[in-house]
Amino acid sequence: MEAMSTVNTERVAGVVNDALAALHEVLERHRVTEAEWHAVLAFLTSVGRADEFILLSDVTRTSVLIDTMEHGGDNSGATASDVEGPLYVDDPPWREKPVRVYEDYRGMGDDADVLVVRGSVTATDGKPLPDAVIDIWQTGPNGGYDIWDERQPEFNFRGRWRVEDEGGAYEFQTMLPQPYTVPVDGPVGRYLEAVGQHPWRPAHIHFKVTAPGHHPLVTQVFFPGDPYLENDTIGAVKPALVLPVQPEGDHLLCPFDIVLRPAA
Ligand code: BEZ
Ligand code: FE
Repeated sequence: MEAMSTVNTERVAGVVNDALAALHEVLERHRVTEAEWHAVLAFLTSVGRADEFILLSDVTRTSVLIDTMEHGGDNSGATASDVEGPLYVDDPPWREKPVRVYEDYRGMGDDADVLVVRGSVTATDGKPLPDAVIDIWQTGPNGGYDIWDERQPEFNFRGRWRVEDEGGAYEFQTMLPQPYTVPVDGPVGRYLEAVGQHPWRPAHIHFKVTAPGHHPLVTQVFFPGDPYLENDTIGAVKPALVLPVQPEGDHLLCPFDIVLRPAA
């Protein structure tokens, strides 16, 4: 009840009443049986036990709907937000400059591309934000997150650092991620199969960017030509977040300027 204690109970009552009315209407329209309803309850119980409610919210595109309602009307010029997903790990390592967000990747293969992401962190009025902290997480070039890929050390392709540049400039070295499937070994995987929804996400890098006096930004960036840009299973691709990638010497370069909105 800790989380609920901050919620206005009148609003909860209003939303819950409408949600129940909508649910009852669907159950009646489809003449859902007792056995089917019990299966739904067992499914939701297993989602909770497996700690997959965020994942369920994501694959049903509910997270994207909430993100759009919360941030979609922002015309301040700030970088577009996007959903966080369930794969952020608290307390990622602070990376030293020059920032490289991976330590090791065994079995990387010769065709894995080193990627440099470079840009600036500024406010919507153009003021550089040297105090900003950038925190990123992504899969390796085989589409695996460190938390499920035994070949990677803990916190590989994760890390945060302070910008510390007077002009707000930042840069980090990573590897070009690849498309991957959301976790399918639990109840949400069975749900995806049952509704005939594929589990793939386009390659992306997640960002959390914070700076004193500014609204925090949670977003993701994507890359052109990805086969899942048009049909991300969580529906999170925004055109403004599909960034160009170009060759630069022996690696690829992705320019990404990050703009934060001042807090009121
Ligand atoms: C992710 O991109 O990390 C992610 C987002 C939603 C569901 C599963 C994974
Ligand atoms: Fe991801």
